Order: sequence, then C-alpha cells, then structure tokens
Amino acid sequence: MVAKTRGQRIYSLEEQKDMLYNLQKYNYMPLKYSYFDYGAQRWIRFAQRWLRILKQDPGARGIHVFERVLLTEMIKSIFNSLPSHLYKNFNLIDLGCGDGSPMYPILRYLQLTMPKAKIRYNPIDLSPDLLSAASKNISRDFKVFGKPSRWDLESGSFSHITKGLNAPNFGNLYLFLGATFGNMYNQIQMLSDVKRSMLPCDYLLLAVELVVEKEIGTMVREYYDIREIYDLTFSALESFGLKRSAGEFKIIFNRKASQIECYYVPDKEMNLVTLEGKTVLPKREPVLLAISTKYTVPMITEIIEKAGFRICLLTTSIGNNYAMAMLQPMK
Ligand SMILES: C[S@@+](CC[C@H](N)C(=O)[O-])C[C@H]1O[C@@H](n2cnc3c(N)ncnc32)[C@H](O)[C@@H]1O
Repeated sequence: MVAKTRGQRIYSLEEQKDMLYNLQKYNYMPLKYSYFDYGAQRWIRFAQRWLRILKQDPGARGIHVFERVLLTEMIKSIFNSLPSHLYKNFNLIDLGCGDGSPMYPILRYLQLTMPKAKIRYNPIDLSPDLLSAASKNISRDFKVFGKPSRWDLESGSFSHITKGLNAPNFGNLYLFLGATFGNMYNQIQMLSDVKRSMLPCDYLLLAVELVVEKEIGTMVREYYDIREIYDLTFSALESFGLKRSAGEFKIIFNRKASQIECYYVPDKEMNLVTLEGKTVLPKREPVLLAISTKYTVPMITEIIEKAGFRICLLTTSIGNNYAMAMLQPMK
C-alpha cells in the first residue's frame, strides 16, 4: 500500500474534492487551504515578523503595520460608534482569526477603558491549527472566555454557529481584519452570508487594503520580495508532494479586477493525487494561488451596500493604503 501524503491526511475528503474541482475548473488552488499544518506555522511566523518590524519601525509598510497603526489611532471612535447601552459586555467574533494578533489592540483598549466588562473571544476559521493558536494566545494574555468554531466562510451562512454565541447582556461585535476579505473569491456573496449570520443590531468591523495608483509598481515589487508569500501560498500543493523548485512564481496586478494575483507556473507537467482522484497541472499553465483585492473607497462602498450593510463609520489611513469600516446590517 502506498503511504498517504501529508495533504491526503490533513484535508478532509470534501476539502480534497473541492481542491480538485477548483484546479480542474478554474486552475485555482484556493488560498484558504494554505493555512493548514506547515502553512499555519508559516502564517504565524509571518504575522509575528510584522509585529517585530512595527516595534522597530512604526513607519514601515505592510498590511499588518497599516492596520495596527489605523486601529490604534481610531479605536476610540470605533468603540464610540457602538450604542453603549447594548455594549456593556462584548462578544467578539473574529472571522478568519489567524493567530489572533490583530485582536491585541482591541482587547488592550477594552481592558483599559472598560475593566469591568466581560469579554468573550470567539474565533471562526477554517484552519484547525490557527483556531487553536488564536484561542491559546488570547486566553494566555487576556482574561477572556469564548468558543472557537471551525467553518469555511465561503460555504454559506453560519447562523447555526452564531446563534449559540449570542448571550444576554452581551453586544456582538464581528471583526474581519487583516485584509482577509480581499482574499475571498466571491466577496459579495460571502459578505451577504456574514450578514445572514448576524442579528440586525450587531456590528461588523471590516478592514481592507486600498489601491494607491502611483504605488502599484512598488506594491508588486514588494510582493515579489516577501519570501513568506511563496512559502505560504505553495503550502497546499507542497503537502501533496509537489516541488516548488520545479516551477516559478509570477505576481501581477490585474487592473480590471483591482487585485494582486499570485501564480505558480510549473516547468513541467505535475500530478496532484488526492484521495478523491487526481488532476494534472499542465506544463507552463499558471495555477492561481492567491488573490488580494485592493479597493477604492467607491468600490468597497458598493460591495458593502450590495451585501446589505450600511456604513456607520469609514476611516482611511494616512497615505490612503488601508480602510476600516464599521458596518451594520440593513433591515
Ligand atoms: C491572511 S490571514 C489573516 C489572519 C488575521 N485576521 C490577521 O489579520 O492576522 C487569513 C485567515 O483567514 C482564514 N481563512 C481564509 N479563508 C477562509 C475561509 N474561507 N473560511 C474560514 N477561514 C478562512 C485563514 O485560515 C487565516 O486564519
């Protein structure tokens, strides 16, 4: 009997089937499968490295730096936009939690300004490894309770999870940080599903990257320079035994879709064998590994409205590279 590859062991049959479907139909290996196992460790190292960079150089560039600076500057206004009578205790629902690091400025702020508030931290993520990393980090560093839930945010409403998280005297604040939203394939559908999982009185804090026309060239070069991007985005293919050195990466900015696209181009034909069947990655045919949408303010406003939310607060970073919006479901 042939030993199973790592990928065949760590992904469910349904996930392996979904990979085959996306590869065969769209030449796409969904990025969400990169955050498992080794990929999760790679993401954690990446996120932690940005925190170190930020400590040494607050003027550095990068999603995590922009977000942390904007969040720290705007945190008071963000929390002031919540109705105080409903938000005495907090149910924080972290969508696509990673290692939980973007939650630190939020939890520090709540600890400092509302020391009596009870706080529940409820991460929701597809990666079991990152769910447990976030829960462990946050419960080690803060006095919080909560419940992690494993869910694919691209697979419909998750009200069956959120119903169980609602609690009397707790206000729900959903958070979609780290520009993860820009990595989703069908963004309006996904955001509508988030809405369907919320109560009408809940709030959602959404963070996205903005496009700065004159910096597009620099941005693409910066993507090429970040070695961790190759390690992370290739994780799922690697777990099925594919060799990264047998091809090259190509990163482009697709102006029409306003997104960075990261491709792997095999030098020779490759076979990807799952427990649900196999597929061939043809020689020189680019496999899409990741997208990262960079929005304009009108573009993200339109998506938010189409998904059925109203904007209560919208703030952008100095330099206009990043935006955060406080949203509420429209009736
Ligand atoms: C770019 S990381 C960002 C993590 C964190 N929000 C941050 O800012 O550091 C993306 C996170 O979203 C999760 N994720 C990506 N696609 C997902 C999906 N379809 N459903 C659930 N989680 C997903 C990944 O597992 C990972 O934890």
